[in-house]
Amino acid sequence: MKGVICAGGHGTRMMPCTKVTNKHLLPVYDKPMIYYPMQTLIDAGIKEILIISGPGHAGDFLNLLGSGKKFGVKLSYALQEEAGGIAQALAMAEDFADNGPVTVILGDNVFEDSFDISDFKFGARIYIKEVTDPERFGVAEIDETGKVKSIEEKPTQPKSNYAVTGLYVYDPRVFDIIKTLKPSGRGELEITDVNNAYLEGNQLEGKKVMGYWTDAGTFESCHKASCLVRDKELKESTPKESNK
Ligand code: DAU
Repeated sequence: MKGVICAGGHGTRMMPCTKVTNKHLLPVYDKPMIYYPMQTLIDAGIKEILIISGPGHAGDFLNLLGSGKKFGVKLSYALQEEAGGIAQALAMAEDFADNGPVTVILGDNVFEDSFDISDFKFGARIYIKEVTDPERFGVAEIDETGKVKSIEEKPTQPKSNYAVTGLYVYDPRVFDIIKTLKPSGRGELEITDVNNAYLEGNQLEGKKVMGYWTDAGTFESCHKASCLVRDKELKESTPKESNK
């Protein structure tokens, strides 16, 4: 399966740091932010990745990541001219997907978990995580069997604590669905509307995320992401005491 990283947008929540660079190039602990979603795709076995970024700093992604050879993957690049929403960014990947399924990840999402996507057949898959501040995210309502009942984008009164994380798997119909979308109140083509289209067709599967997950798109969440990554790295580099 091919992978797509959505790394467009204005990064307005991280001004002035995003005035002269792209949010996804800012550091999360000891690496540029985009390294983390890219590694998540690589760990899922993906070998071909399209990076979609906005105007202004597209060349910086190329300078940083190059052909992808040093990461063992093939990287391609596309430009989203305006920040018209995640679904609008994804639409740029239609030719790249070449009628196959795609795994999509948001460029500011940091996951501890690794993902097996090899069993994906059709429809859409989302990954959900219990959080204490669901109103910041897409929120999935879950029934007693664990099935997704509804998804709302940043509700003021969330129906659950399950955030829809920025990792999605779609069959090729996703590109036709995006063509039917209308801009939301905030003027964007919403990924939540894409997911709801699959939900209405009873073709949306929700899976739970293990380990930590955070976005890194605000100063607070970016700092949190750095601390989580640092704690994990330090834990892994600490020699284990022998019982002998
Ligand atoms: O992090 C998960 C959340 O991401 C989900 O729970 C929400 O349902 C989803 O809408 C999204 O919410 P955000 O408000 O955090 O999205 P944001 O505008 O910050 O964009 C997230 C990433 O998507 C960002 O790192 C860059 C990319 N993006 C965003 C926009 C608006 C694009 O590539 N193009 C765009 O036009």
